[in-house]
Amino acid sequence: MNASMINKRKKIVAGNWKMNVLPSKVTEFIHELKERINTNEADVVVCPPFICLPSAVEACKNSIIRVGAQNMHWEEKGAFTGEVSPAMLVDMGVEYVIIGHSERRQYFAETDQTVNRKVHSAFKYGLKPIVCVGETLEQREQGITNDLLRMQTRIAVQGLTTQQVEELIIAYEPIWAIGTGKTATPEDANSATAEIRSVIRELYGDSTAEKIRIQYGGSVNAGNAGELFGMPDIDGGLVGGASLKVDEFEKIVKYDE
Ligand code: 13P
Repeated sequence: MNASMINKRKKIVAGNWKMNVLPSKVTEFIHELKERINTNEADVVVCPPFICLPSAVEACKNSIIRVGAQNMHWEEKGAFTGEVSPAMLVDMGVEYVIIGHSERRQYFAETDQTVNRKVHSAFKYGLKPIVCVGETLEQREQGITNDLLRMQTRIAVQGLTTQQVEELIIAYEPIWAIGTGKTATPEDANSATAEIRSVIRELYGDSTAEKIRIQYGGSVNAGNAGELFGMPDIDGGLVGGASLKVDEFEKIVKYDE
């Protein structure tokens, strides 16, 4: 049996805009995007900066495009100057949240433990977490990619119920591929996502491992999305730079048309 025949998971393509969009440009961008993206073949999410979230939620109304945040605190409220809580995100109409992006880990000292706290909190407030894992070039060259992915995944899901894991999204983002134009080969990307899936299988069993969606991220573009997303263990992508161009993002979402 061919792997794609048994893979019933719906693809999910999310655009991580990072710190790249001005609030005044969001509405126009999303209106253009939603005219072109009306397929229900894949889940489509845009993740603008916090300050753009209200206008993004408003602009996405009556479309299939959903809105995600790029980060959040794990507490509901309190004396955490400069932070944004899961309750605030839900109150605004945000549905997804990226947790533990490598840029958060690298520049803002996030750890596997804070990632786990945030994942629990996201579920508690009804947000769908997209947890990022991935190795540096040095770790890949040392041959410890799988060990690292296993550890990051194990800690991220610690204490989650089976149902939560089935709703979780994991994004495999090799750090050396982010913003560099050096995409992982489809085979390498699939081998990493399969490794992550095998950790879920060991912890939660076959059925959960077949349900969890695992994306690839790192220099995804209109030219390579088809090959990557066509791999049996890759369930879509987390897209940075290419999600900022309507044409390009449209082609990525419609990769198999
Ligand atoms: P690029 O697609 O720009 O490489 O970014 C990937 C990424 O970090 C998405 O979260």
